[in-house]
Amino acid sequence: MSARPLPTDVLPGRAGTPVVVARDVKRIYEIRRGAFRPPARLQAVGGVSFDVEAGRTLAVVGESGCGKSTLARVVSLLEAPSAGTLVLNGVDAVHVSPKAKRLLRRSVQMVFQNPYGSLNPRKKIGAILEAPLEINTELAPPAREERAKAMLARVGLRPEHYVRYPHMFSGGQRQRIAIARALMLNPALVVADEPVSALDVSVQAQVLNLMADLQDELGLAYLFISHDLGVVRHIAHDVLVMYLGLAMEQGPTARIFARPLHPYTQALLASVPAMAGAARVRRVPLAGELPSPLNPPHGCVFSTRCPYAIERCREERPESRPLDGRAVACHLAERFLEPPPAGAGGTGQP
Ligand SMILES: Nc1ncnc2c1ncn2[C@@H]1O[C@H](COP(=O)(O)OP(=O)(O)OP(=O)(O)O)[C@@H](O)[C@H]1O
Ligand SMILES: [Mg+2]
Repeated sequence: MSARPLPTDVLPGRAGTPVVVARDVKRIYEIRRGAFRPPARLQAVGGVSFDVEAGRTLAVVGESGCGKSTLARVVSLLEAPSAGTLVLNGVDAVHVSPKAKRLLRRSVQMVFQNPYGSLNPRKKIGAILEAPLEINTELAPPAREERAKAMLARVGLRPEHYVRYPHMFSGGQRQRIAIARALMLNPALVVADEPVSALDVSVQAQVLNLMADLQDELGLAYLFISHDLGVVRHIAHDVLVMYLGLAMEQGPTARIFARPLHPYTQALLASVPAMAGAARVRRVPLAGELPSPLNPPHGCVFSTRCPYAIERCREERPESRPLDGRAVACHLAERFLEPPPAGAGGTGQP
C-alpha cells in the first residue's frame, strides 16, 4: 500500500515543518456564581507555548485538572483560545474565516480515551469510517468503501470488520477503529487524549506500536495527553509538564526524564518507582492538596507544595527560561543540575 492513498485538501506537514505552533495560549472559563456576583475566572490553561513538528510526538503530562484536556480541545479547534496564537500547518487558526477553519479542522483529528463512547453503537464500522469522507469529499460510495477497507487493513483489522458494530470489538480493536476514523481525512496532527489509559497494559503496547508505525509511515504529528510517564517515556520525543494550567518544564523527553530540573517534574517521576531509579531523581514527596484553580497561589503556582520553596518563590512567579537543553519555570532550577548523591532523598530536603 502506498503511503498516502487518501484524498486531502490540507497536506500533511513535511518533516521539520512545525504542524502546530502555539504561543502563550490561554483558555479561561467564566464560572457563574449566582445573579448578583460577577463570574469567577478559572484559568484552565494559563499561557502555554510549544511547537510540534511533523513526525514528532509531544506529550502533555500533569496531575488531574492541570489543563491537559482543555489544551487538547483548543489545539483541536473544538474551543477557541481566550488569548494567544495558534498556527496550524502555517495557517493562523484563531483569526481565520469560517471556510478556512473548516478546512483546517480536517487537518487536526482527535482520539479519545474511551473508544466506546466516541463510536456510534448503531452504526457499522464501515459507516463510521466513511462518515468523514461523506461530509468532506466528493468521493462516490464505492471509492469510500475502498478507502475505509484500506484503512481497516492499515490499523490491523480485517475487511469483514467493515460490516460489524462497535460492541463486537475488544477495547483495543475499538481504539484501532477510532484511530482509523481519525486518519480518514489524512490529518497532519492527531491529538490523542489518554488514548490507551482505559486499555489493559498488554493491549496498550499494541496500540502504541500502531500509533508509532502510523506516525513513521504518514509523518503525523502527535499531541499525546497522558498521565502515565512510563508510556510517555516510550513514545514522546518531547514532553510538556503542566501544573495548574502552566508549563513547569518542557523539552526533549530523554533529557528531562534523565535529569528533571523542576521539583514538580521530580515529584512526578519519583512517584513512578521504575523511573525514579533510572533518573536518580530527588525523592520529592508530592505533599498537600492541589490548590483550587479558581484561587491559584501567588508567585510560583507550585510553591505551596514544593519542599524547596523560598520567600522569592511565594512572591515572584518564575518565567519559563532555557536551561540545560529544555525550558524550566523554577527560580532554583540551577541547583538541580548536579545529580543527587546516590541514595539521596526521602526527606525531600536539598
Ligand atoms: N467547560 C469547562 N467549564 C469550566 N471549567 C472547566 C471546563 N473544562 C475544564 N474546566 C476546568 O479546567 C481545569 C482543567 O481541566 P482539564 O479537564 O483540562 O484537566 P485535565 O488535565 O485534562 O484533567 P484530567 O487528568 O482529570 O483529565 C479544571 O479545573 C477543570 O475543572
Ligand atoms: Mg483530561
